[in-house]
Amino acid sequence: MTTDRHESIYDRGEMYEAFYRGRGKDYTGEAALVTSLVRDRLAGADSLLDVACGSGDHLTRFAESFGHVEGLDLSEDMVQLARKNTGVPIHRGDMRDFALDRTFGAVVSLFSGVAYCADLDELTATLRSFARHLSPGGVIVIEPFWLPEDFLEGYVGTDTVESGGRTYVRVSHTVRDGGVSHMEVHFLVASAESGITHFHDVHRTTLFTRDEYETAFARAGCEVEYVKDPLAPRGLFVGTATPTA
Ligand SMILES: C[S@@+](CC[C@H](N)C(=O)[O-])C[C@H]1O[C@@H](n2cnc3c(N)ncnc32)[C@H](O)[C@@H]1O
Repeated sequence: MTTDRHESIYDRGEMYEAFYRGRGKDYTGEAALVTSLVRDRLAGADSLLDVACGSGDHLTRFAESFGHVEGLDLSEDMVQLARKNTGVPIHRGDMRDFALDRTFGAVVSLFSGVAYCADLDELTATLRSFARHLSPGGVIVIEPFWLPEDFLEGYVGTDTVESGGRTYVRVSHTVRDGGVSHMEVHFLVASAESGITHFHDVHRTTLFTRDEYETAFARAGCEVEYVKDPLAPRGLFVGTATPTA
């Protein structure tokens, strides 16, 4: 057994993928929900950019409904994995400031990636980057982190997942540090060949309020709605560019 070490799960894309697939994350249902939210507002939307796309598991589903899809992520490991999984253009970039050479009918960011923004200025910069990449009438969908009123102080999460011949045990402990969620995650990874390895990761995400999310959309020139769905217990913010007079 190796000693405990600190490592980002986002630098271990294949493990992220195996864990969330094995845990049964409903990428198909989530992509269908987001697609319908987009098409309800722009029926002809046929292109989509997934920002902080991770392993690309949503993108493979979006590619079945949209004629053109692309992804973007900060982590080189995730970028390589998403390219392999999807075969579509995946850009390495920072959601807070990126420039691609085209626009999209939809720009989405799922599973709370936007909560890695450290403050409202960064969240506003992120929404402005998204809005700059919208075609006329285009739609932004973001899945926030838990809103402060839904945050569970001291929450302990435990999961054991069997996937690809390996066993993954994940234990998390989350506490509030002012306006920030501090989640420590420990992973045990075990297989017959490699025995047991152990690493831990720390995620600091901002507990933005609903008002802060809505302010960031407004500053990016968008109208926004907050919708809840059983497939998205953290809710989804759905934005469209404010029509100019
Ligand atoms: C919780 S994962 C979500 C991945 C994917 N959207 C999903 O639903 O599985 C968060 C992702 O955000 C990415 N990320 C974190 N900070 C970022 C930034 N500043 N710009 C772009 N991506 C970022 C990470 O590399 C990681 O892939």
